[in-house]
Amino acid sequence: MGLSVIILAAGQGTRMRSDLPKVLQSLAGQPLLAHVLDCSRELGADAICVVYGHGAEEVQARFPDADIRWALQQQQLGTGHAVQQAMQGTPDDKQVLILFGDVPLLRPATLVALVHATGEDELSVLTVDMDDPTGYGRIVRDGDNVSRIVEEKDATDDEKAIVEINTGVMLCKGERLRKWLANLDNANTQGEYYLTDVISMAVADGLIVHGIKAQEQVEVMGINDKKQLAEAERALQARLVDELMAQGVGFADPARVDIRGTLSCGKDVFIDVNAVFEGEVSLGDGVRIESNNLIRDSQLGASVVVHSNCHIEGATTGDNCEIGPFSRLRPGAELANNVKVGNFVEIKKSTVADGSKVNHLTYIGDSDIGEGVNVGAGTITCNYDGANKYRTTIGDGAFIGSGVNLVAPVEVGKGATIGAGSTITKSAPDDQLTLERAKQTTIRGWKRPTKKS
Ligand code: UD1
Ligand code: CA
Repeated sequence: MGLSVIILAAGQGTRMRSDLPKVLQSLAGQPLLAHVLDCSRELGADAICVVYGHGAEEVQARFPDADIRWALQQQQLGTGHAVQQAMQGTPDDKQVLILFGDVPLLRPATLVALVHATGEDELSVLTVDMDDPTGYGRIVRDGDNVSRIVEEKDATDDEKAIVEINTGVMLCKGERLRKWLANLDNANTQGEYYLTDVISMAVADGLIVHGIKAQEQVEVMGINDKKQLAEAERALQARLVDELMAQGVGFADPARVDIRGTLSCGKDVFIDVNAVFEGEVSLGDGVRIESNNLIRDSQLGASVVVHSNCHIEGATTGDNCEIGPFSRLRPGAELANNVKVGNFVEIKKSTVADGSKVNHLTYIGDSDIGEGVNVGAGTITCNYDGANKYRTTIGDGAFIGSGVNLVAPVEVGKGATIGAGSTITKSAPDDQLTLERAKQTTIRGWKRPTKKS
């Protein structure tokens, strides 16, 4: 029959105490709403409509995605009113699934179960048993089915004792929903148009209303403040790490790693504490990530070791490379196989071919380094003249002494040796020693200054 998703995301989120609209608050590196959109797409929704209100431009600008239809809810008059805003353009003959922009941890599998349990002309609500149901709408059942939902503020003491609550997620046919929404009123304690009132209308129309229970409370948690946001973050991180452990990835401590994006791992990968992965990261077989590393949008080949305290972004490596401790790989750093990058080395927009070593205190920018090159400590490629950037090329087998400045554009030939302390401004030929140094002098009898009294 097809599925049409409506996501309510108009609320301000006052309790976040933030200038950022609630659904743009970040969870695992993505706005809350992005998680709900991903889930909707995984379900194979034919259409997605987001009801937006607070922070309208900011929210829309963050999601230029072509598959989203936007419905503005100018005033937040309740969840029922919110869904009404989305109904123009929602087809009659499809199942309509209502989700919430601030309920980001729902698993597609839970919703698939909800969809499967719901007959063509039936209604389902997703429920859960809460340890503390205070504040939620309670599920009132008649036998196996749901007869109505009563909001906390409208509930009797007996009803307040019910622990099964409404998550807000609901599924029914568009045609039915349209009719019921048109009949909502706001004669309740909060003066709001309650979406939940459609349940008793469905019952009155003789429909079966299923209450489908979610397995875990955390999956349906709504995020209202920074504390809940942090709880959701930990819950999502635990879920991501569990999935990776099931695939065979080893963690020194599953609670001390953060994945803000997609981390794909080969076999026998080991990740020590305080590793943060952002964006799209892939780690080849046997990669070892030591403690305190940030790795963003990078691909590391097989058996690469990243020692502690590195910052790696937009980099790629071949196999068997050794990086760190304290290395910085910036966007466009491309290391081939068996490359070593040591402490306090920064590499940007540069290629380093097989077996080359850049081990200490060095800046390599806009450079192409051949195979088997040894770059000595304290080497700087001077790639910037204050206005333009230039490239440095170093041939295979070259040896760059310590403390060398390579003023780009400049080329060091194959097998060339550059003497320590040189400032190289002209091409250095293949297989020769090139150096540039003032003559060493000694001033005999020179005295150190003494402190004036
Ligand atoms: C709602 C349910 C309650 C359920 C709870 C689960 C109703 C009447 N009540 O209560 O049964 O237990 O969710 O969290 O539906 N929103 C809009 N426009 C509005 C009002 C709300 O977009 O005019 C959005 C909010 O941004 C939020 C969501 O709908 O994401 C829920 O709204 P909220 O006011 O928090 O609902 P509750 O009163 O908590
Ligand atoms: Ca409310």
